[in-house]
Amino acid sequence: MLPTDFLDESVLTEGDWEDLYALAREIHREPTAFSDALRGKILGTLFYEPSTRTRLSFETAMLRLGGQVVGFSDPSSSSVTKGETLKDTVKIVSSYCDILALRTPLEGGAHAASLFSSVPVINAGDGSHLHPTQTLTDLFCIRHRAGTLTGLTVGFCGDLYNGRTVHSLAKSLARRGCTFYFVSAPSLALPEHLKRQFISLGAKIYECDSLDACIDRLDVLYMTRTQRERGSQASDALGLRLTADKLLRARRELLILHPLPKVDEIAPEVDDDPRAVYFSQAKGGVSVRMALMLRLLERPYTEKRVPFSHEARRCTNPRCVTAFEKGLFPDTDLGDFGECCAYCSQPIDAR
Ligand code: NCD
Repeated sequence: MLPTDFLDESVLTEGDWEDLYALAREIHREPTAFSDALRGKILGTLFYEPSTRTRLSFETAMLRLGGQVVGFSDPSSSSVTKGETLKDTVKIVSSYCDILALRTPLEGGAHAASLFSSVPVINAGDGSHLHPTQTLTDLFCIRHRAGTLTGLTVGFCGDLYNGRTVHSLAKSLARRGCTFYFVSAPSLALPEHLKRQFISLGAKIYECDSLDACIDRLDVLYMTRTQRERGSQASDALGLRLTADKLLRARRELLILHPLPKVDEIAPEVDDDPRAVYFSQAKGGVSVRMALMLRLLERPYTEKRVPFSHEARRCTNPRCVTAFEKGLFPDTDLGDFGECCAYCSQPIDAR
């Protein structure tokens, strides 16, 4: 059974994933069969960061299920600019809606929101931390086209430091025995604590600084843009740009994914290569979000208690929600990798 909130895809059991995948496939084949499934339900979209695909695909998903949508896509049009806390916004909007989708620059912000909400919270991206519905979208695309998620060789290229889609997808694939090639400029390499985490979950990891070093071995190539808004500096290294000539050495069955928006990390002619599946990847995002909302709204929601402790050690991640949200006490989990912040997952002793 799915957790009551959807904050991190990697906590799903294999059974949860298979059930969601089967439902999303059914919806994808015949969306009209579900057009009344959530009639009378309201989705609240709280988007504190820009978004095209994620917000519109959530909205489309709810409308296709017969429900309705309220919310904001620009925090400057909400009371956030008056200094309202996340807690107050979530408490109020969750009292108007049946389910919430939240995007925030604060890492762990969705976890915090789930403590204040009276309805299920879906993490639509929290800073550089996770983006679990993008991961569902990615897994849906890979599973449908490659027939499996197990034992794949996956290249991740671009901004591996701040790219939450990479962090989220790699976490989910690591436990499925995949091999990863991380391809980036040195300044945008994957954070050390994530490398350690993926290895202990079961992944084999290689790092390189150009696509040519690994493209012939890949089943999946996951391209990403530079997250300038989070301080990442674009690299002009030609080896990191996907072009038609680099693809000459790639497998015929390669799948090229991108969470989009793409900027200039993929040459325009690659769009016409049948291996480039990013547009249909994005289309599948509506079906998986429909499946997810159907399942989350199937059962009663249990409200949580906000942890209250003066004992827990404070998270030192300057982008963690606990550094911004007033009245939020630090909280830690003891994971397989030592003590981590319960909100943003960063190891307490990492830095
Ligand atoms: C991604 C995001 O917001 O993290 N986009 C998306 O949701 N499809 C990737 C990005 O912005 O680069």
